[in-house]
Amino acid sequence: MIKIILWVMGIAVTIVLTLGLRGQLSKNRPWHLFWDMKYQPKYTSQSLSPFFTDNRSMRLPVERTLAYTVPGYYSDAGMLDLPDDDVLQEDDVYYRGIAGPDIEIEIDVPKIGEGGKQILGSDKKPIMEKKKEMGKNWIQNIPRQAIQRSRPILSVSDKKLTESELELESWKGLIKRGQERFLIHCAVCHGESGYGGQGEIAHGIVGRYGMIGIANYHEDRIRNMRDGEIFNTITNGKNTMSSYAHQIKVQDRWAIVAYIRVLQLSQNAPVSWVPAEEREKWKKEILKKSPKE
Ligand code: HEC
Repeated sequence: MIKIILWVMGIAVTIVLTLGLRGQLSKNRPWHLFWDMKYQPKYTSQSLSPFFTDNRSMRLPVERTLAYTVPGYYSDAGMLDLPDDDVLQEDDVYYRGIAGPDIEIEIDVPKIGEGGKQILGSDKKPIMEKKKEMGKNWIQNIPRQAIQRSRPILSVSDKKLTESELELESWKGLIKRGQERFLIHCAVCHGESGYGGQGEIAHGIVGRYGMIGIANYHEDRIRNMRDGEIFNTITNGKNTMSSYAHQIKVQDRWAIVAYIRVLQLSQNAPVSWVPAEEREKWKKEILKKSPKE
């Protein structure tokens, strides 16, 4: 009898010892028979150090340190002739889309009547009025530097391109790159067409899966937006749209802005831009399809 009790107790103790302590938190280090090099005196990131007066093990750069370049910084330090613009990012126009100090801008705000209530029009929508306030001085057009940076790299054997041909090629390159980046980063929400939207009629898959309020690029408000402001939306996000500064480089943000302009034009080009003979052909096509008119 005692034997059986001892057996049962032995099994119970073994089960508790092997399984019962799993999942418990402990501040002790796990058992390691051989320590190898896992444990050695060192500072890990964000750890404390009693050595420095601010108690941080991570040190800040020496004051007035000048950033030169990022790739191969350590090996190149001091060997470059010029600081790297992309590290310093001093140029407000190219890196932030800002032309200068804040300016007075006009914005649309709902008209307020007596008792602080919004005045509604006959369509039950609030009547808007213009209000002046200080706002960012966004640049109107994509900066020269973005176009310059997209210049094709020509080999010696290439035929000599004129200045205006080069300009055209630069724009083509910029727009092409913008299309590619747009389809990767933005189309999931705004749709390949840029119509955005939500629910069943959403143009982007995220809208179809429930995200609300995705902007439609083909509204006058966004058509009239300055290039710098769209650039800023990619950099810093806007309301429920998050920032894409980490995923998309400055040059690529300008490329996307260029492509958004192409998308907008594709949905809103004046008929007068179509050559006259083409227009005649269209008319015949349309008449053929709807003979009653
Ligand atoms: C996760 C979904 C999502 C993605 C991805 C996304 N957006 Fe948006 N975007 C939104 C939403 C939602 C809004 C509306 C924000 C608001 O409430 O004003 C918006 C608004 C905008 C606006 C209008 C901003 C304004 O001032 O009203 C622009 C321009 C825009 N997005 C451009 C882009 C570009 C360019 C990209 C790609 C780099 C992008 N978006 C990627 C969701 C997204």
